[in-house]
Amino acid sequence: MTREQLDFPEGFLWGTATAAHQIEGGNWNNDWWAWEHDPASPCAEPSGDACDSWNRWEEDVALLGDLGLGTYRFSAEWSRIEPEDGEWSTATVDHYRRQCEALLARGIEPAVTCHHFTTPRWLAARGGWEDPASADRFAAFCGRLAGELGDVVRRVCTINEPNIVATMGWLLGVFPPGKSDHDLRLRVNDVFVDAHRKAVDAIRGAAPGLPVGLTLSMTEYQAVEGGESRRERMLREMEDVFLEATDGDDFVGVQVYSRMRLGPKGILPAEAGVPVLDMGYEYWPQALEACLRRAWSVTGGRVPLLVTENGIGTTDDTQRIRFVREALEGVLRCLADGLDVRGYVYWSLLDNFEWAFGYRPRFGLVAVDRQTFAREPKPSAAWFASVARANALVGS
Ligand code: GCO
Repeated sequence: MTREQLDFPEGFLWGTATAAHQIEGGNWNNDWWAWEHDPASPCAEPSGDACDSWNRWEEDVALLGDLGLGTYRFSAEWSRIEPEDGEWSTATVDHYRRQCEALLARGIEPAVTCHHFTTPRWLAARGGWEDPASADRFAAFCGRLAGELGDVVRRVCTINEPNIVATMGWLLGVFPPGKSDHDLRLRVNDVFVDAHRKAVDAIRGAAPGLPVGLTLSMTEYQAVEGGESRRERMLREMEDVFLEATDGDDFVGVQVYSRMRLGPKGILPAEAGVPVLDMGYEYWPQALEACLRRAWSVTGGRVPLLVTENGIGTTDDTQRIRFVREALEGVLRCLADGLDVRGYVYWSLLDNFEWAFGYRPRFGLVAVDRQTFAREPKPSAAWFASVARANALVGS
């Protein structure tokens, strides 16, 4: 590739992401905390103090400042802001406001996610995302939050990966509420679509002009010898139903980690010769390019794309650099073909609580000591910072 081909467009956004439950610690008032402590759940360990970011957020902001990144995507924990139905915690919103102000002071754009996997216990207890009324309840939360933080936030993601929450929680039973019911899962998909649309309206009503979008987990689904109809169904239920709901949004958040091969009987094991990561899926950085192209074609190029998550859980930091480099090469090819990709956000800033997997998978650019919570940037952090600074895929 020539020098020009390694350059990203001017204004391309570079950042990292986290989520409240994975880093803050002590988020006992949501469905995930209850699930982690349920002996019947498949969770490896409870989240506990996580990275203690509720108390150490200033250290996290300082790290982001040192890396010189343009945006930080984090989530606001609904169960802290509304500990009971209708009870609003001003102190909690102030906490997030201070964090946003500190980011802005360092030139980092705050991007807030309103729902990142965790649901307040009071809402889960009355049916959570099975109940169509939850869509309105969520939109009301988003509207009020946007009204209170709209001046210090630069981007809002309504729901993080509703497709994963619906599938893991209502089909595969590995996320709360641990059910396995295909019809219910499709209904949850619909409730999430409704929740997203209503949340967009509520956020725009409360904070006109604030960019808002959905973030979706995408996978490079490949059909192998007769797996075509399975692939079609997977694409419809996992992706298209949500991509079609993004019409009129300010961006589509594309989140990609790997591929999945489907045969006539279902999901195929890893292909010989392709490394398998700690998450159980293949090392497949080229999935990002494939999914960006697919998101662009399904949405008819009507909505700009933003990579709101891409990353790798590995203890081999050299492998991390290689993965991101290969994924970014795919982004460059998409840009060269005219796709409107606005930025790349690496998951994650910190090694953190990887849901049912616990703390074993290491996605962070920065390591976190599990006893002292001390943060230590890895070589990949410096590498990623240099790419962001150059706005080009340079360096080794
Ligand atoms: C997701 C979530 C993150 C994960 C990340 C790594 O995509 O599942 O947004 O919370 O930690 O994807 O698996």
